[in-house]
Amino acid sequence: MYFIAAILFVLAATPVLCTAWLDPGKPTHEPIRRLQTRLDTGRVKPKIFILSTFLNEAEAWRGIPEFDVFAQNISVPGLSPLFPNAHCVANGDICQVTTGEGEINAAISVSSLLASPKFDLTNTYFLVAGIASINPKQGTLGSVAFARYAIQVGLQHEIDAREISSQMTTGFIPQGSKSSDEFPHFIFGTEVFELNSALRTEAVRLANQAYLNDSDEAIVYRGNYQTKENVYNPGCSPPTVIECDVVTSDTWFSGSKLGDAFENYAKLVTAGGVYCAAAQEDNAILAALLRGSAMQLVDFGRIIVMRTGSDFDRPYPEQGVTENLFWNDTARSTPAIQNIYIAGIEVINGILSNWTRTYEKGIKPINYIGDILGSLGSRAPFLPEDRVISPSSAGKGGRGM
Ligand SMILES: *[C@@H]1O[C@H](CO)[C@@H](O)[C@H](O)[C@H]1NC(C)=O
Ligand SMILES: *[C@@H]1O[C@H](CO)[C@@H](O)[C@H](O)[C@H]1NC(C)=O
Ligand SMILES: *[C@@H]1O[C@H](CO)[C@@H](O)[C@H](O)[C@H]1NC(C)=O
Ligand SMILES: *[C@@H]1O[C@H](CO)[C@@H](O)[C@H](O)[C@H]1NC(C)=O
Repeated sequence: MYFIAAILFVLAATPVLCTAWLDPGKPTHEPIRRLQTRLDTGRVKPKIFILSTFLNEAEAWRGIPEFDVFAQNISVPGLSPLFPNAHCVANGDICQVTTGEGEINAAISVSSLLASPKFDLTNTYFLVAGIASINPKQGTLGSVAFARYAIQVGLQHEIDAREISSQMTTGFIPQGSKSSDEFPHFIFGTEVFELNSALRTEAVRLANQAYLNDSDEAIVYRGNYQTKENVYNPGCSPPTVIECDVVTSDTWFSGSKLGDAFENYAKLVTAGGVYCAAAQEDNAILAALLRGSAMQLVDFGRIIVMRTGSDFDRPYPEQGVTENLFWNDTARSTPAIQNIYIAGIEVINGILSNWTRTYEKGIKPINYIGDILGSLGSRAPFLPEDRVISPSSAGKGGRGM
């Protein structure tokens, strides 16, 4: 995937270099650094990049009073064919891109964006601003979740639930392991990302200044999550800003069994993370940003993952799992779309208004940030001590041998 991005970068950069070389009025030996500087001066250097994954999330930013992020359309080769342009405000301080949905679209779109010579993203804050299925143990429709960990729960072994043995509580087993509570042995590298918790604290503080939207439909619907045992208390309460983690799966799942299984997996691989939001892109976006960070194109300490609850990951008591999955009441999910803007604008305004004093130099991380491989330096603290990660320690190749 990154190989493609590297090729795109070369292709995109070539015309600029060629023009300089072919221009008879200029010395052919013009130093590369000066060419580079000329390239840089034409670049958009956003302070904030909003990452949306599909149309409705992008449209949440249209027609707002604070800024017009659709003032400039900048085509970026390699983006989704459905969303071929990045968008920016006139002065370039705020930009937005729609990645397309699912892990493959998200990874390639963000890689392509990072490879584009049209942008300088070295100081940019990335705000993943999307909707998600919400775990009613942690939140409700319209809740705004800020993640510290992103966990790729689809990257596991799976046995159809009808064929699992009586000792198994789920058909999912961490890769290379023999049981669901054993930390995975086959590590691919995108299983877990840990974000800058000090930045998250700031984002939560800013988002908490917002009055979140709710709707009559959401109020009535979430009432169904009231139980005698109060297990879904957050699910049947009004939406708030919450700090908890996001899981990524290409498969759009529904049900308390899968919800609980992924909650356990998320906790296992992060040594304590709390799953509250399920989406189909975040680990892919973060994998692309991590590699960009290793190439010093972006700063991995400047990423905020914000997901708002548009539907529940599991039914309420007595409701069928398919009924939960096939929900079609858009009025119920409207607060999620609205709260992307309502909470997100506080974060954006906070960053812009304190740019010179605080954000330009960055919010220093006080926790580990990066991937499970420790690609940005130190060892991931959630990786068990007995796990040695090497290029030969993972996957189908190992299994077949
Ligand atoms: C940019 O593209 C969007 C559609 O994605 C459109 O609504 C907007 O008018 C375009 N802006 C300009 C300046 O062409
Ligand atoms: C939504 O689903 C219900 C029941 O599954 C069905 O009766 C109704 O027609 C659907 N509405 C729309 C707009 O699809
Ligand atoms: C929030 O809800 C109110 C009442 O329904 C509505 O008027 C307002 O436009 C909503 N805010 C946004 C940003 O959509
Ligand atoms: C700006 O940042 C400083 C330090 O990080 C913080 O104390 C202050 O409250 C911030 N101001 C605003 C308006 O966010």
